[in-house]
Amino acid sequence: MGLDELVFHPWSVQGVRNVPTFVGGSGSFVVDVEGRRFLDFGSQLVFTNLGHQHPAIVTAIKEQADRLCTLAPGYASDVRGEAARLIIEVAPEGLGHVLFTTGGTEAIEHAVRMARLHNGRPKVLAAYRSYHGSTTTSIHLTGDPRRWASDTGAAGAVHFFGPFIYRSAFGSSTPEEECELALAHLEQVILLEGPSTVSAVLLESVTGSSGVIVPPAGYLQGVRDLCSRHGIVFIADEVLVGFGRTGEWFGVDHDRVAPDLLVFAKGVNSGYVPLGGVLVGNPIYETFASRPYPAGMTYSGHPLACAAAVGAIGAMHDEGTVAAAARLGTQLLGPGLTKLAENHFCIGDVRGIGGLWTLELVRDRQTKEPLVPVGATGEANAPTFAFTKACLERGLVPLVLGNRIHVAPPLNVSDSDAATGLAILDEALAEADAFLT
Ligand SMILES: Cc1ncc(COP(=O)(O)O)c(C=O)c1O
Repeated sequence: MGLDELVFHPWSVQGVRNVPTFVGGSGSFVVDVEGRRFLDFGSQLVFTNLGHQHPAIVTAIKEQADRLCTLAPGYASDVRGEAARLIIEVAPEGLGHVLFTTGGTEAIEHAVRMARLHNGRPKVLAAYRSYHGSTTTSIHLTGDPRRWASDTGAAGAVHFFGPFIYRSAFGSSTPEEECELALAHLEQVILLEGPSTVSAVLLESVTGSSGVIVPPAGYLQGVRDLCSRHGIVFIADEVLVGFGRTGEWFGVDHDRVAPDLLVFAKGVNSGYVPLGGVLVGNPIYETFASRPYPAGMTYSGHPLACAAAVGAIGAMHDEGTVAAAARLGTQLLGPGLTKLAENHFCIGDVRGIGGLWTLELVRDRQTKEPLVPVGATGEANAPTFAFTKACLERGLVPLVLGNRIHVAPPLNVSDSDAATGLAILDEALAEADAFLT
C-alpha cells in the first residue's frame, strides 16, 4: 500500500489515485519525486499568488518559529497585530478590524454569523454559480453542484442569478443590459423574500471556481446600493480573488465599492500556513463593542500564519505584485488565451481578468453544450482527462474544473514561463478537440 492511500481525500472517490507526488517547489514550479519540474498554471487551487518557496515568506515563518511558534488568541501578539494592520491598510475604507480564521470556509461561517447577530434577520442571499466553502453554512450558500450532496434545505440560503453574459439568465446581449437586468432581478428577489427577513447578500466579487465570471462595471455598486437601501449586510467573498489576483488588491476595488464584511484567505499569505479571516466594517464592529462576539477558534490568528501574511504582503508591496497581475491579464494571458480560441473548436468562451482566466470548453459553439457534463466521471470525462494527461506529460499542472480550464499562474510568473504555459495548453487542447471530430 502506498502512503497516499492512507490519506482520506477531500472531494474524491477514495482508494488508489493516479496523481504526481510533489516533494519540492520553487517560484512557478513544483518538483515531483523523480525530480521533474512542473509549471504550476493554477497556483495549486489559486492560492500560491507569489509562487512556491518565496524567500520573504519562508524567512518570516522561520523567524517567527524561532521566536514563538504558537499563542492562544486571548493574548496580544505583535505579529497578529502587524498582519491585521497590513491587511486593513490595503482594504477598502471602513473595514477597520480583522477576525482571523484558519481558512475561507470558516471565515464565511463567521461573516454570516456576524451579519445575523448584527441585524437579527435569518436569510442569506447568494448567487448561483458561486463557491463559498464546504462547511455547513458555506456549502448551503454555494450556488453550484458542489452543494447538492450536502443540501438539507435548512440553512436560510436563497439563491439568485448574478450577471453572466455568456449564459445570460436574462437574455441580454450587452454588459450594460446584463448589469441592469441582474440588479433588477436581485431587487425582485429581495422584495419577494421580504427585506426584513434578509440578513445578508453574499457575493464573490469576481466569481472564481464556479466559472471565472467578471461582473460588468456598476454591478457591485448596484448590489451595495440595494443592501444599503434595505438594511442588508453586504458580504464580499474575496477568498479566491483577494490580495491581487484580479489586478487590484480586492475584486470590489474594480467598482470602488466597500462591503460591510470582506472575507479573505488564500492570497493573504499565498497559503504557506493556513489563514483566512473577515474584515469587519465599523457598524458591525460596534455591535460587538458592548456584547461579546459568541464564537472563536483555538488557532485564530496563529502566529506562524500571521508571520507568513506579514512576509507575503510586504513582498507584494516591494515587488509591485498587484500591478504585475493587471499586466499579466492585459499583456499575456488575455491575448494569449484569445489566440488559443482561434485554433481550437472546443473553446466556447475565454474570459477573465488580471491573473485569473478560464477557457470554457463546449461541444458546439452555437448550443454552448458543455464538453463534459456536470459531475462527469469515467468515459464522460474522457476529453478533460486526455487534456490533463497531455499537460502533465509536457510538464504543466493544469487546473481543470468541470468543462473549464482555469488559468491562474502565480502573479509573479515570468513572461517566458507564461508563454511556455500557453504553448503547452495549445498542444494539450488538441486532445480535447479530437473528441469533436
Ligand atoms: C470564493 C471562495 N470562497 C470560499 C472558499 C473556501 O475556502 P477554503 O477552501 O479555504 O475553506 C473558496 C475556496 O476555494 C473560494 O474560492
